[in-house]
Amino acid sequence: SVFDCPILDLPVVHDQNGKISVLENNQNIPFDIKRVYYLYDVPYAAERGGHAHYELEQFVVAACGSFSFILDDGINKREVFLNSPQKALHIKPGIWREMKDFSGGSICLVLASHEYTETDYIRNYEDFIKYVQNDSSDS
Ligand code: TYD
Repeated sequence: SVFDCPILDLPVVHDQNGKISVLENNQNIPFDIKRVYYLYDVPYAAERGGHAHYELEQFVVAACGSFSFILDDGINKREVFLNSPQKALHIKPGIWREMKDFSGGSICLVLASHEYTETDYIRNYEDFIKYVQNDSSDS
């Protein structure tokens, strides 16, 4: 559910010359990171996302600037505002997400549990609702 998408506080190595935030396989990331990508040069007022995944799990970090994720499990919606390079939002499988309110120059860093494959996407909202309704017998 959207309430099972926690915001992780990242370890920060801080000295007088700057900061390092760490995400590491099998330390604070509970899966093997297979892919890293980042969104940038997002135009003012642009909205992205509009899909869910069957298998993919992700950690999302506002590496620079800020933006909002709207998470939707088919029953509840939750808006998460990310504005810190020291926090990572854990998006579990089966969550519809939309992204908006990207600040100028923002960078949305994503660590993903699987390589890119279009077959893992649910891009139609009605298909998503059917999927979560049929899948609710598992949980
Ligand atoms: P998408 O995941 O829909 O973007 P967002 O959720 O940020 O709006 O991906 C947009 C396009 O980029 C889509 O055609 C698939 C492609 N893409 C890749 O080829 N590889 C990737 O790792 C990602 C994330 C997207």
